[in-house]
Amino acid sequence: MKTKFLTGIAMLGALALVAAGCGSDSDSGSGSGGGSGDTIKVGFAQTGSESGWRSANTENMKQAFSKENGFDLVFNAADNDPAAQIAAVRSFINQRVDAIVIAPIVEDGWDDVLQEAADADIPVVLEDRTVTSSDDLYASWVGDDFKKEGETAGQWAADNFGDTPTKMVVLEGTTGSAPANDRAEGFDSAIGGTQIEKIDSQTGDFTRDGGKKVMEGFLQKYGVDGIDLVFAHNDDMALGAIEAIEAAGGKPGEDIKIVSIDAVHDGMQALVDGKINFIVECNPLLGDYAADLVKKVLDGTDVDKQNYAEDGSFTQDQAKEVIDSRPY
Ligand code: AHR
Repeated sequence: MKTKFLTGIAMLGALALVAAGCGSDSDSGSGSGGGSGDTIKVGFAQTGSESGWRSANTENMKQAFSKENGFDLVFNAADNDPAAQIAAVRSFINQRVDAIVIAPIVEDGWDDVLQEAADADIPVVLEDRTVTSSDDLYASWVGDDFKKEGETAGQWAADNFGDTPTKMVVLEGTTGSAPANDRAEGFDSAIGGTQIEKIDSQTGDFTRDGGKKVMEGFLQKYGVDGIDLVFAHNDDMALGAIEAIEAAGGKPGEDIKIVSIDAVHDGMQALVDGKINFIVECNPLLGDYAADLVKKVLDGTDVDKQNYAEDGSFTQDQAKEVIDSRPY
């Protein structure tokens, strides 16, 4: 089954209700730390610290899995190295944590370690990104709909440039990651049949430096006049592209239009400043929902396998209205 939940200020209210419900479950339940009021030891395998989105997500997860909320959090950030992330999960299994939460860097390669967690009777909740393994190997997932984010970005591009010959370059997220795969798929399907032509596409690894370097290469190859549109899989790479375009003497948002995904503060500021043209939101505030899932799973309460946050999108004018009230 799939669940959708609200984001932003509306989500904070909804999550408060979820957490209130969760408290009564915990009081009455039993099991390894989840229902008896004991501290729950959770290992969280984070991707790394590649972006503003990731910083907001890490901070939110640490708040949700705090001592005050009944958790003993063992945190690991794998610096975007899939092998190091799998090693971290193995170490959580060896430490006999009560539950494991993973934000998987890439989609593939999880079968063995997820099976090891299952054999050790340690439930796994996925947060943010998905895996290609069978969903029998994890208890639940909470995150954003990356394909829909790509579709929304692509629909904006199709609506604004679809009828005019438009040369587009793409700054891809980490190769093999769910958001890079799904955003590309959603975007490409939305621009199908339009006059937007993808002339180049390379990974910038979701980082500002990566986006800048890849964009510098594109600008050397095609020049400012040879690129009309950038689709950046996240705001940090768009911000790097802005630096590269300005260094090449171009005006980002005017000479070269930019559409990106995340809606973190620096991205929204660039949107307000006219340097980005459209941003699709990817909400990083998943912590309370993930913590609630962990408690429910340990209590033996049924949970949905997939739990989607609902994301919005922003034009430059809409960004001006909301930028001061956004929590990240
Ligand atoms: O998985 C979510 C993506 O990871 C965010 O869009 C990106 O900024 C982050 O690095």
